[in-house]
Amino acid sequence: MRNKILVTGATGTIGSFLIDNLRKKNVDFVTLVRDASKAEKLEKNGIQTVVGDLGDEKSLISAMKDVGSIFLLSTTSPQSPELQGNVVKAAKAKGIKHIVKIAARGSSVDADFNIGRWHGITEKEIMGSGIPYTFIHAHSFMQNLFFDAGSIENENAIYSSQGDGRIPMVDARDIASVAADVLTEPGHEGKTYVLTGPEAISYYDIARELSRLLGREISYIAQSAEDGYNAMLASGMPNWLVDDMTLLNKRYARNEAADVSPDVEIITGRKPIALHQFLKDFKNRFN
Ligand SMILES: NC(=O)c1ccc[n+]([C@@H]2O[C@H](COP(=O)([O-])OP(=O)(O)OC[C@H]3O[C@@H](n4cnc5c(N)ncnc54)[C@H](OP(=O)(O)O)[C@@H]3O)[C@@H](O)[C@H]2O)c1
Repeated sequence: MRNKILVTGATGTIGSFLIDNLRKKNVDFVTLVRDASKAEKLEKNGIQTVVGDLGDEKSLISAMKDVGSIFLLSTTSPQSPELQGNVVKAAKAKGIKHIVKIAARGSSVDADFNIGRWHGITEKEIMGSGIPYTFIHAHSFMQNLFFDAGSIENENAIYSSQGDGRIPMVDARDIASVAADVLTEPGHEGKTYVLTGPEAISYYDIARELSRLLGREISYIAQSAEDGYNAMLASGMPNWLVDDMTLLNKRYARNEAADVSPDVEIITGRKPIALHQFLKDFKNRFN
């Protein structure tokens, strides 16, 4: 029986945690890695690997040998509909039985932000292919807070244009746990799961938890939308991402994305990881 899982995005945040989960479950899986040196590292750790690229359809076809299910994730960019579309085409040609795709909360072909629309395009293509699917719509990752490590260390401050708005950020470890269950257990086909943390939190809450954890005062500097926009541009983020984050931060500031979803607990049987636990577990990332 073809029950091997092909894992794309295995070297990234969710993918690394997913590998740990799949190993614990003792299931057969292979990772598709574009960088030969990263592939070699994984192989050394006993992870089956094929070198390939989402931009190279031939490599996708050969990576799908004996594969039954695919975990689909890549960096989001203007190229991602084309790159992920290549996976869908190869999967159809190879008779793949299940695609589990990571997308973002609010993804759809009609989404008003680029990331959501690009994910929506791929989801539409998957639905049109007839391949059974599960879509995972994740909220903002707690791991995004690693980007604030510099200002925490140098200025004892975190910055955002989210005002005092709250969102239920989700730990990427929970996303990986859900993905591992969905890939290895029956009954998830045709479903879209929305993954959030256990409670909606504001940047004031984050600053308070960081202060407690680090034993010194960490301040939250609430930026205007314009200052936030300029700071993101100055940091080198591409224009499309700055536009998306500006739009989303305005939405978050208005508490329009504050709903907590029960899906992590429904699928894994345990509550999602809370902010204080995330910060405690990754304390070494913050100085
Ligand atoms: N961050 C958030 O708050 C958030 C929220 C909701 C949804 N999401 C979604 O989550 C996804 C990102 O997840 P993540 O943070 O775990 O990913 P990540 O850490 O950015 O890693 C991206 C992975 O994709 C691989 N990749 C990129 N282009 C590739 C290509 N052409 N061929 C083969 N592999 C390729 C990368 O390989 P290399 O190691 O070679 O670069 C890496 O393994 C995106 O779809 C994003 O929209 C993110």
